[in-house]
Amino acid sequence: MSESKRKRSWAEPFKIKMVELVHMTSREEREAAIKEAGYNTFLLKSKDVYIDLLTDSGTSAMSDRQWAGMMTGDEAYAGSVNFYNLERAIQKYYGYKYIVPTHQGRAAEHIISQLMIQPGDVIPGNMYFTTTKLHQELAGGTFVDVIIDEAHDPVNEHPFKGNIDLEKLEKVIKQHGADKIPYVCVATAVNMAGGQPISLANLKAVRKLTQTHGIAIIHDMTRVAENAYFIKEREEGYADKSVAEIVKEICSLTDGATMSAKKDALVNIGGFLAVNDEKLFDLARNMVVIYEGLHTYGGMAGRDMEALAIGISESVDGDHIRARVGQVAYLGEKLIEAGIPIVKPIGSHGVFLDAKKFLPHLSQEVFPAQTLAAEIYLDSGVRTMERGVVSAGRNRETGEHNYPKLELVRLTIPRRVYTQAHMDVIAESVEEVYLNRDKISGLKMVYEPEYLRFFQARFEKL
Ligand code: F0G
Repeated sequence: MSESKRKRSWAEPFKIKMVELVHMTSREEREAAIKEAGYNTFLLKSKDVYIDLLTDSGTSAMSDRQWAGMMTGDEAYAGSVNFYNLERAIQKYYGYKYIVPTHQGRAAEHIISQLMIQPGDVIPGNMYFTTTKLHQELAGGTFVDVIIDEAHDPVNEHPFKGNIDLEKLEKVIKQHGADKIPYVCVATAVNMAGGQPISLANLKAVRKLTQTHGIAIIHDMTRVAENAYFIKEREEGYADKSVAEIVKEICSLTDGATMSAKKDALVNIGGFLAVNDEKLFDLARNMVVIYEGLHTYGGMAGRDMEALAIGISESVDGDHIRARVGQVAYLGEKLIEAGIPIVKPIGSHGVFLDAKKFLPHLSQEVFPAQTLAAEIYLDSGVRTMERGVVSAGRNRETGEHNYPKLELVRLTIPRRVYTQAHMDVIAESVEEVYLNRDKISGLKMVYEPEYLRFFQARFEKL
């Protein structure tokens, strides 16, 4: 084989300067811990967790530059230097004009929902996200899923399963009328679909259709850089564009955005609402004062805003994002090799196990994904998360469980935190559980909170 044809592995574009020791537990300790947590991995104490794949939210490792930035925090109540640095970074890398900082993503969702949605309105989007949908509902709106059908099929290998079905969208517009649709909510790297991207061709078509009806697009840009990487890899005409250029092009096709900076943007806390319309900005800037804090900090300390400004610039770096998505793919490919049913193509921020296929003997009434997450923890101390019927909640009118087509366990990979050896240990544990899957029985729910029940619900073994 010639030199140029030989395989070249990806590797992290950083080296480790400081480490955090983690605690290894025994099977008995884990049995006690998960029982105490009501078989809900959200209720485990992190000291009882070995490898934490609960979420990629707020769990990134910051760089030395970000930590240095923390020391330059200007903790003034109003007009902090760091706010202006953040504003400049958002304008430079994302291109939005006006910025309202918030403490995290759902606070931005709250503000935009309250400002734009009237009771009776309908908000189409490419698959629901838990907090986004709830804020739309609390404002009196109804979310309508217009993602392509392929997104609901875990084995369909469509390269852009985050795409919007234009026919579905047109039908919603016809049925309800454009004046009942304040905006279309477009997510990049669609979380609940398994971290699946939307293509620029699709976004352009959505833009064209909505513009003819005078409907705005609000972008859930939580994982926009990861989406941009997939566009570079998969979409014709983008191979030679940088991730940063693609990110900016995506944002330019939308009117505003909500951002949970705890993901893509490499910080432990933070978020913002960004809009291009000055009137809307004025309203949002006024509202943030009620719920978050003054419009030049919105719930973040000066140091948090500085870390975020730096994190945004690091997040669109091509080498960073290649290693980030590469690590997720490494784990996903190991699981595929072992014959484990996962959502394909492998997503951006995690690997999603197909719990319906993994545990075919369990019906959705006994919460297969919730069960599987508990079993993986029991096996190895690896903490994962349910994304199935528990996350989907109940139908507001009938009170019945929503039964989503996708019943998944998410192995979410924090950014810049774990090594390839950790990925090997995770894959070995999932394989072990898979080999013993016949012995696994389901759960019953014994406590259910009213809102976002997956965070706090409790279960018992059947
Ligand atoms: N939008 C998406 C696509 C998200 O993934 C999240 C959070 C939010 C909005 C809300 O942002 O947490 O900063 O208030 N997702 C986390 C997760 C919780 O684990 O997927 P937040």
